[in-house]
Amino acid sequence: MKNLHLTKKLQLLNKLLIISFIVIFAIFVFVPQQYLIWILFACFIVVYAFIKFSIHKTTLYLDDLERLLDTFDKYIIYSQTDLNGKILNASSAFAQLSGYDKKELIGEPHSIVRHPDMPKSIFKEMWDDLEVKKYWRGEVKNKKKDGGFYWVEAITEADYDLDGKHVGYHAIRQDITSKKEAEALKLNLEKTNDLLEAQHDEKIIEVIELTKDIRDTQKEIIFTMGTIGETRSKETGNHVKRVAEYTKILALYSGMHEFDAEILKQASPMHDIGKVGIPDAILNKPGRLTPDEMEIMKTHARLGYDMLKHSDKKLLAIAAKIAHEHHEKYDGSGYPNALKGKNISIEGRITAVADVFDALGSARAYKKAWADEDIFKMLVEEKGKHFDPEIIDIFLENKEDFLAIRDKFLDVA
Ligand SMILES: [Fe+2]
Ligand SMILES: [Fe+2]
Repeated sequence: MKNLHLTKKLQLLNKLLIISFIVIFAIFVFVPQQYLIWILFACFIVVYAFIKFSIHKTTLYLDDLERLLDTFDKYIIYSQTDLNGKILNASSAFAQLSGYDKKELIGEPHSIVRHPDMPKSIFKEMWDDLEVKKYWRGEVKNKKKDGGFYWVEAITEADYDLDGKHVGYHAIRQDITSKKEAEALKLNLEKTNDLLEAQHDEKIIEVIELTKDIRDTQKEIIFTMGTIGETRSKETGNHVKRVAEYTKILALYSGMHEFDAEILKQASPMHDIGKVGIPDAILNKPGRLTPDEMEIMKTHARLGYDMLKHSDKKLLAIAAKIAHEHHEKYDGSGYPNALKGKNISIEGRITAVADVFDALGSARAYKKAWADEDIFKMLVEEKGKHFDPEIIDIFLENKEDFLAIRDKFLDVA
């Protein structure tokens, strides 16, 4: 701005000098001879004072300009080249950033600071832009004298002489090395993070698969244990499968949560696991059991409970409860503890219905299967006696579902 003021002042001074000459000429022509010397002297004093004042102001302006150029040289990363790219001028800031001395740069090709990482396409884009738009703006990685690098955001413009002839280029730059390093660091962090997340996801999948494996194994073991108990008492493997399915449906229809119903389904096959502790002579006796034998047979409920009760796992805890309570009766006439009504767990009450329904409907070597009507009739008669009346109601309302399961898991003859 001060440069512009200086120009205006000089133009004004020029005009004033012309006016002064015109005035002096007019004085010579029109003023009488005796006053001429005094008037000319006065004019001389005025012009002298004005020139003195102008020189003083111009000196101040030139001082400002010099300080401005010093600041520019110190802080602006500037260079000027001819048409061949030879460096004609370079600021101290440019020299300092590139690690060269100013004298080492002047006369050298600008490619002295070109970094091999920069693709040629960037320079092609730069020359194309300079040709068409007369300027180019972009980010450039440059090479330092010591082999290091720095990044700049550069604006390059074409230079013209007073006749408008294209004579070279100049560029100013901003040091963006810190910004680029931060960007590179961020990119690295993101990549590392992605890698860690991928590894984390892999681990989670492994854990899920492992957990599923453990659960499947657990289910198989429990089912096999249940089958052992039933096989010893001449039941078939499909009996426990059917009981498992019946108990889940009854549980769901009774309003039990899906998760708990699934636990019940997995635990109910173990209701007769205690039979592994009953002597074969009693378990496989073809005829009716004597009262003493019956008492021994009844111990399978407690034996099963004792086998399973030590676990703190929910599935085994439920299995223990079912083994213990599946022969309890709603009216309190069951065993081993003669529990009554809702004192018998919901799992025990449900399994009792499922077990009896399936046992009666299945043919065995020693008995025929009951007719469905007879089974349903018995279930109704036993409502509130052997069985929980609410569960019997649910069973009878949905009996088609239970018959479908029985058909699906028929015993193989
Ligand atoms: Fe039993
Ligand atoms: Fe059973």
